Amino acid sequence: MTLLTQRPAGQDTLSPNQQLLPLTAQANALDHLEIGGCDVVELVARFGSPLYIVDEVTLRTACQQYQAAFEQYYPGPFQVLYASKAWSCLAICALVSQEGLGLDVVSGGELVTALQAGVDPARIYFHGNNKSAPEIDLAIRTGVTLVVDNDWELEQVCRGAEHAPVRIMVRFTPGLDCHTHAYIRTGQRDSKFGFDLDALAGVFQRLAQRPAVQCVGLHAHNGSQIFALEHPQDLAGILVDWMAKGMAYGLPLTELNVGGGLGIRYTTADDPPSIAAWVQTVAKGVASACQQRQLPLPKLLCEPGRSIIGPAVVTAYTVGSSKVIPGVRTYVAVDGGMSDNPRPITYQAEYEAVLANRLGAAATETVTVAGKHCESGDILIQTAHLPPTVPGDVLVVLATGAYNASMASNYNRVPRPAAVLVHASEASLIVRRETYTDLLRQDCLPSRLAP
Ligand SMILES: Cc1ncc(COP(=O)(O)O)c(C=O)c1O
Repeated sequence: MTLLTQRPAGQDTLSPNQQLLPLTAQANALDHLEIGGCDVVELVARFGSPLYIVDEVTLRTACQQYQAAFEQYYPGPFQVLYASKAWSCLAICALVSQEGLGLDVVSGGELVTALQAGVDPARIYFHGNNKSAPEIDLAIRTGVTLVVDNDWELEQVCRGAEHAPVRIMVRFTPGLDCHTHAYIRTGQRDSKFGFDLDALAGVFQRLAQRPAVQCVGLHAHNGSQIFALEHPQDLAGILVDWMAKGMAYGLPLTELNVGGGLGIRYTTADDPPSIAAWVQTVAKGVASACQQRQLPLPKLLCEPGRSIIGPAVVTAYTVGSSKVIPGVRTYVAVDGGMSDNPRPITYQAEYEAVLANRLGAAATETVTVAGKHCESGDILIQTAHLPPTVPGDVLVVLATGAYNASMASNYNRVPRPAAVLVHASEASLIVRRETYTDLLRQDCLPSRLAP
């Protein structure tokens, strides 16, 4: 049985984050993988490999499910933000914005991309634990909301407010220890992000003396790839508690941001809750905490990244060499690796793969899918169940939309892949493949070294 035939019937009503494959994935008459009505083997022939393939239906469905769940479960105002760190490029920012989402950005580069894509600055929130002075200046000039992370930033923001209105939120570490990889855990007290809870009353006091800085709300984020619902629920209560304390200082707090973090299905073993269940948990958590304290409902914000873009994307590679070590393992190498997907080498992330050109073939082999980089750790999948492979096969790694393209590098001077958006049998290029000319563009050769 292949991963495709393992999908439950009626799967398109399920949450995209609970799927291994994009919603439109199917086998065509040639037994090839088809996504968005496009034959993946043909896409590779046309655009080359590695190739990021973005399914528009899956991406829009995830956005729409977040919006619909807030409408259903939260009686107050809300705004869903897309955490663009998951993958920021013009087309994706424009598409999620069309769906009514705002954006969370964490650098001047992500901010400029969002603005260039036409995202309304009123819906952009600027995060980061060490924003530079030019970044803070850009945020103030463009009128986006700054999520202030520490004392140093607070000082700069107060200075900026002497010349222009500044709208901020305050980020704090909620002290919740979530069960996810240490590198993507942020809610625990020992974190580089946000004010420590012990410091928060002092921050409120300072802001109360600076009415030119409009502090509209509070922000906290537990971490990423989280399946348990008790963490967002606990966070909702903590945020409301601190909103009440901030209001007691006279701050005009009307917004709470519960962050992102909903996990997705990378392997058949992963069983994340649905988008609707996650939204219901945070919405009810905030609403009931407000009711208990007789507080007005704040505008509720969240900022999912992985669960919006992750399941919408696959990466197609071409199989090249293989190495059989009798009694040990078989390596099957593809034409990309840690430069287009650094998650396995960074935090031992696991993935699954299918062969796009023989989708129905039985997965009779257990192999290790290796990248092409000069690093023994450049392994995309340790234990992959695949049909026997030959050079030229198109191997597709699933659920690669989040933190792949956005973390891609030029390690070994490998050009970064192209990306296409597929929909209704049409493929549109959204990121050009890098060329050797692109790679050399930033290099400078002092004349005394010139050949
Ligand atoms: C502050 C903040 N918000 C949102 C996100 C998005 O998280 P995820 O992609 O898990 O939804 C992150 C990611 O780490 C983050 O640091």
